[in-house]
Amino acid sequence: MNLDELNKVARAMVAPGKGILAADESTGTIKKRFDAIGTENTEDNRRDYREMMFRTAEAMKNHISGVILYDETIWQKAKDGTLLVDIIKQAGALPGIKVDEGTKPLPNCPGEVVTVGLDRLADRLPKYYAQGARFAKWRAVIDVGPGKPSYACLSANAHALARYAALCQDAQIVPIVEPEVLMDGDHDIEQCEMVTEWVLKETFQQLYYQKVALEGIVLKPNMIVPGKGSKARASVQDVAERTVKVLKNCVPGAVPGIAFLSGGQSDEEATAHLDAMNKIGNLPWALTFSYGRALQAAPQKAWGGKAENLAAGQSAFSHRAKMNGLAALGQWKADLEKKAA
Ligand code: 13P
Repeated sequence: MNLDELNKVARAMVAPGKGILAADESTGTIKKRFDAIGTENTEDNRRDYREMMFRTAEAMKNHISGVILYDETIWQKAKDGTLLVDIIKQAGALPGIKVDEGTKPLPNCPGEVVTVGLDRLADRLPKYYAQGARFAKWRAVIDVGPGKPSYACLSANAHALARYAALCQDAQIVPIVEPEVLMDGDHDIEQCEMVTEWVLKETFQQLYYQKVALEGIVLKPNMIVPGKGSKARASVQDVAERTVKVLKNCVPGAVPGIAFLSGGQSDEEATAHLDAMNKIGNLPWALTFSYGRALQAAPQKAWGGKAENLAAGQSAFSHRAKMNGLAALGQWKADLEKKAA
């Protein structure tokens, strides 16, 4: 493993004013997104939709450092025969690959899951590297509720994340380490804070045991927010302060950067929260975005599965990428959203 090279890639992923586009929805998940815009979930539609984003030159060049792809997409060619990974590279961004194989129920832990996919990972990674992937993603899912999470769930998931991260680094691929505490449920912000702190402590402990070099990872956590069903809402400042506090308590300064998931926050919330954290300043790591829904909801709606809406889809994507790029610098303002509307 060449750690200098891994560190260089990790730093490029969180370069100032840039963040990651999570376009790695599985075929089942993208179906849900396409259903919402009345678009059939065909291979061609998935390609056209993703090609539309990857060819949005302004966004890709200035605000997107890397794109997380699903297995289908990393081998896929654009309509004109160019590999989609080559379009991403030509735009100056890094291709990345989701390598986990989803979740399975965890025995003895009702309602809890563990992320799987370690068995053949060492064989798969060199193929992805050869195809251009310079980073990977593995998502662990932690549910909050009565009796949840259990320590069994936390430790199994943290162990798998650390095993995955070690295998990635061995294959010269930067692992995005993503332990996601879900927003589903009616838990309050304090519960999210407590669980997230526990999850991160356990994750970094396991990364240490598996000898993962922290200089060569990117952490992808949730923000500290109340559950979607909680009646007690939290201000932007409260979310920002609690998230920074927990991260400072759990994430060593050797980690080059933290790129948040959006997790079901609205587009503008996800942007405002990231911006408020960067406005706090004096942080030991870069703080940026690795959004799926918060970057793509607007372009999906504008595109609606129709070729004639391509420019509208690209302009919606460009706008969200720019807003989040500004938030990654702590330079976003709410009235920039209104001006665009
Ligand atoms: P969301 O931003 O939609 O949560 O997706 C990010 C992601 O990659 C989840 O694994």
